[in-house]
Amino acid sequence: MCGIVGYIGDRDITSILLVGLQRLSYRGYDSSGIGILSDGELSTWKKSGKLVELETMIDGLSIQGNIGIGHTRWATHGIPNDINSHPHVNQSKKLAIVHNGIIENFSSIKSRLSKQGFLFRSQTDTEVIAHLIEYYMANASLETAVENALLEIQGSFALAVIAESEPDKIIAARRSSPLIIGVGDNENFISSDINPILSHTKKVVYMNDNELAVITRDHIQLKLISGPEIPLKTHQINWNQEASEKGGYDHFMLKEIHSQPHVVRTILSKYIKGKNQIQFKDLHRDGIDLKLINRFIIQACGTSWHSGLIGKYLIEQYAHVLTEVDISSEFRYRQMISQGNDVVMGLSQSGETADTLACIREAKSKFYKVLSFVNVKGSSIDRESDGVIYSHAGQEVGVASTKNYIAQIVTIYLFAIHLAHIKGKLSKDELVNKIDQLNKIPEYMDSILSKADELEAMAEKYYLSREFLFIGRGLNYPTALEGALKLKEISYIHATGYAAGELKHGPIALIDAKLPIVCISPQTSTYEKMLSNIQEVKARKGKTIIIATEGDKEIKNYANDLFYIPKAPEELTPLLACIPLQLLSYYIAVKLDCDVDQPRNLAKSVTVE
Ligand code: F6R
Repeated sequence: MCGIVGYIGDRDITSILLVGLQRLSYRGYDSSGIGILSDGELSTWKKSGKLVELETMIDGLSIQGNIGIGHTRWATHGIPNDINSHPHVNQSKKLAIVHNGIIENFSSIKSRLSKQGFLFRSQTDTEVIAHLIEYYMANASLETAVENALLEIQGSFALAVIAESEPDKIIAARRSSPLIIGVGDNENFISSDINPILSHTKKVVYMNDNELAVITRDHIQLKLISGPEIPLKTHQINWNQEASEKGGYDHFMLKEIHSQPHVVRTILSKYIKGKNQIQFKDLHRDGIDLKLINRFIIQACGTSWHSGLIGKYLIEQYAHVLTEVDISSEFRYRQMISQGNDVVMGLSQSGETADTLACIREAKSKFYKVLSFVNVKGSSIDRESDGVIYSHAGQEVGVASTKNYIAQIVTIYLFAIHLAHIKGKLSKDELVNKIDQLNKIPEYMDSILSKADELEAMAEKYYLSREFLFIGRGLNYPTALEGALKLKEISYIHATGYAAGELKHGPIALIDAKLPIVCISPQTSTYEKMLSNIQEVKARKGKTIIIATEGDKEIKNYANDLFYIPKAPEELTPLLACIPLQLLSYYIAVKLDCDVDQPRNLAKSVTVE
């Protein structure tokens, strides 16, 4: 969370920093700020609220300079006001720092420095770093002072520092928060991710934990913090910037929902080779032998946790391998019990989620192999895993995950049937049949998307309800959880997902004539059970919005509102059933005038605990 950019070179500095912050604003949008050195003199501008507030603030100013840093904030320490915004400066305002992460021992450092006469202006943990660097600069260069400060602080950081005393460089460092250096020609960049850099250079250096970089316009020195120099390893990026545009849609979320058939086609083209052969190129990077695996432990958060729950069903169903699914923030503080030949599986769109990353590191330290399903190439989880299956969803800009959810389910599905085949649980013919069925999904998705207006009309009926229940069974129990999460995160309406069979153990007490209950009820092996649950709801006058299989006439009797999805094999129904739920949430949020792409209090890449 929080986004950092930095630039040194001859281009228009404000535009580089502001466009960079725009592309990073998915990481947090509580406030933003920039700090620029012009003729060796430091100036900073910062403002709470969305980036547009900062843009308005500096509009019309003629800001010069060829070295600068910028920040977009997701508040942790201190409310999102102007003072707590980054950059933070030292006492004499001659040094500026932007920071992503949390300094755990900031309060003891702050009280020590306060006693020595340092005056603090903000409530942030970041400001202590600025003063600490100043403290060490009394007898040292900027680089050594930053190193000394970093040796003292505990917690996570990606940071960038500029100072009047050494106006030709940016000092950047990271521990547990991402940071990338963009390598240019007589210019260099830093950023929390690749997006601000992409349109300027495709050559990047991924910084690793405990590394520090001294960046001038024509040189990059990389070293361990207070340690030896490290050879620069550059990577060539072959992404384009097209995902950063809305492409005619009102919101990125809507564009991403509509791109889901394309995402499935892309995944199939990446992983299905020759005559229906599944090939995962990066799966066996470091000694993962699929035949030997006895147990998977899936690690994920939020929407990725929901696709992990579906993954459990699929892997157990097809490959008969015990699969546990855990929320990373819970798992990381429990005892890991090895049964031998366990593989920890990390599921993450961003590849940077702090809790999931921590679980993976913990697992590796205990000699588990780690196989991850990741969307962002070059992310920490990608680089630290023994094997990776990329989601190939393309850049997801909307803070609420949609297309990556689909992509994770499809890739896990392919993995599950591949594993089942290797383990002798699925014949070649069965495998080919399963791939054929998957090939039909994009077309089914297209037909659902063509009926988006039905969901818009439903949203009109229900958008003033302050509470929703989502119920499903089997593979569509996670669909219910995901439907509820989508609705609450973008529309701020309280929604809860339940396994439909659990209703009678408590939640049924909530049902009255005002409560809308979204029932995910395609024709699967639990259909009859689900029908009974829906009748329980109807008997208590609940308002039912039912997602059912095309041709199911009986279900009409129990539906206040009904949306049909095409008939598909049970294991593939979550891929179809989630789309109407995404659209329903989207249209409700739009009607409530919510900021769909950047919901309040959220950030796309959750790099703090
Ligand atoms: C919800 C959403 C979040 C993420 C979660 C994990 O729409 O996007 O719940 O799924 O923060 O993020 P990743 O997948 O990047 O690890």
